[in-house]
Amino acid sequence: MTKAELIQSFYETFGSGDEPRVFFAGGRVNLIGEHVDYNGGHVLPCALTMGTWCLLRRRPDDRLRFYSLNFPQLGVLEGTLSDVRCEARNQWTNYVLGMLFALGERGIALSSGFEMLIYGNIPNGSGLSSSASLEMVAGAAFRACYGLDVTNVELALLGQRTENGFIGLNSGIMDQFSIALGKEDAAVFLDTGTLSYEYVPVELGDNVILIMNTCKRRTLADSKYNERRVQCESALKALQQALPVKDLASVSPEAFEANRHLIENGIERDRAEHVVYECARTLEACKALRSGDLVSFGRLMNASHDSLRDLYAVSCQELDTLVNEARKCPGVLGVRMTGAGFGGCAVAIVDRNTVDAVMEQVGRAYEQAIGHPCAFYVASIGGGPKEL
Ligand code: GLA
Repeated sequence: MTKAELIQSFYETFGSGDEPRVFFAGGRVNLIGEHVDYNGGHVLPCALTMGTWCLLRRRPDDRLRFYSLNFPQLGVLEGTLSDVRCEARNQWTNYVLGMLFALGERGIALSSGFEMLIYGNIPNGSGLSSSASLEMVAGAAFRACYGLDVTNVELALLGQRTENGFIGLNSGIMDQFSIALGKEDAAVFLDTGTLSYEYVPVELGDNVILIMNTCKRRTLADSKYNERRVQCESALKALQQALPVKDLASVSPEAFEANRHLIENGIERDRAEHVVYECARTLEACKALRSGDLVSFGRLMNASHDSLRDLYAVSCQELDTLVNEARKCPGVLGVRMTGAGFGGCAVAIVDRNTVDAVMEQVGRAYEQAIGHPCAFYVASIGGGPKEL
């Protein structure tokens, strides 16, 4: 949709008057470093040019009026600034209300209500962070329209607080951070323990980033996600009997092997093993990317998926089918699930010359095995939130 079309929809929904301001924030795809961002590990995500548009116009009173072009059947959803609560009837607006809640915790209140129109082209529940994208675009719109003094890093933290304190998902910081601090054609190499970060140019030569969507919505993902987090905390406690570490990311593979017996629960031991080795893989993968060694990078992606499947148990038949089929195709350097898992997307590095054949072959095999089609996107890496 063009900016003019979005503005037209805005007027049709909320009536004429002042022109709304228009903002955009991307989604994200994580190349490697999965389920380590709540364990202090490094991650390597990129912001996407697919994302969420937000049109905002201030109101003279304290009413909040929302409309999403993605959920026209919900009509205009209403609220007020003085009643910000997470409730099922608020639907998707909970992510926007959560940002108000998180700002409120910091003593920042908007001076008036608003009308907001949203349009997004990230498939919901696809593991490409449509919700973090919504949080970041709303945050950027609030900052600009109400003159708030908030940095992009703070926006990311407000988004995480929205998830943790309002929505009830104990997520890490990766999604919001990579979107808020995104840079064109670069991955964000983020140390989630300290929030220090560097940009790593994504120079793939003749290769592209191919995203493969299972088109299976994540189900029960939130409770399983929170359960993984608790298992990691419990494993950490066991290791801390012998190791002076603050998080699982600080445990080297050697230290883990020497002390793994301390984690009595086998499932928790597996979870910790994934985290420890995934952290090591991510450091190696970042080196490989910097030096243009895409073959090693791909190998590490493959190992990451296998560990997420076998040790962390967050893959599913649909994701494994995509991954297994892609691995049979010539020109696929590496492939893994991306994001929380339990559905959503896989990401692959694929030779540009074979990408059509890969989509064709994987698409056919997937539909045969699963019974419904999957979808593909060749990713382009975008920048941080912006006003259009
Ligand atoms: C979700 C969470 C992130 C991260 C990933 C898994 O996307 O929001 O914080 O934990 O899962 O790596």
